[in-house]
Amino acid sequence: MSFTIIKHPLITDKLTRMRREDTSSKDFRENLNEIGQLMVYEIFRDVPLKEVDIKTPVTKTKGYTIDIPVVLIPIIRAGLGMTEGIQKLVPTARIAHIGLYRDEKTLEPVEYYAKKTENIESSYVIVVDPMLATGGSASKAIDIAKGWGAKHIKFVCLVSVDKGVKKLQNDHPDVDIYTASLDPVLNNKGFIEPGLGDAGDRIFGTK
Ligand code: PRP
Repeated sequence: MSFTIIKHPLITDKLTRMRREDTSSKDFRENLNEIGQLMVYEIFRDVPLKEVDIKTPVTKTKGYTIDIPVVLIPIIRAGLGMTEGIQKLVPTARIAHIGLYRDEKTLEPVEYYAKKTENIESSYVIVVDPMLATGGSASKAIDIAKGWGAKHIKFVCLVSVDKGVKKLQNDHPDVDIYTASLDPVLNNKGFIEPGLGDAGDRIFGTK
């Protein structure tokens, strides 16, 4: 399905702050959350609305509200850092969690946690992870979400590379992909270049 690079000067500016190696963990988290909020506008462009009757202080009229439950699925750990920003704008969203880490040698994702939400089958599902590198983690997380019955799935990341995008499009052609940047290189350690380092470590200050 679609692949969208969400370009906006505010996103570009914040992403540049995040890329700098001297950016603190606090500033990294704040900018990640803010970019998550800015990306929401584009990601939810096609969310279905239903007509409702409302009364303003002046008169009766028709209004429109979101007509589908929303489920966010952060891929733990780094996806957690982007979820809060999205949730601020969609406060009714439920959160499911999928914990994956990449084996350092094989770069294959290893599952260590998975907790679904109710009604995921009929929800608008957004899988969130700042990094799309080899694409293994995103693809595996979407496998798990589909195993839970999820159907309308989007994947949102901050930084991606061609290899990961291609893998995801190949494994899950029904999933729309959104990113703030398509970076040029995936190095032989599986790191995106220029990238922003290990997002999980930078969010949680573990290195
Ligand atoms: C990072 C990142 C993605 C994954 C991307 O997580 O947050 O989940 O790697 O790589 P891939 O596209 O090659 O699968 P990591 O394994 O470092 O775990 P963490 O979020 O706990 O730091």
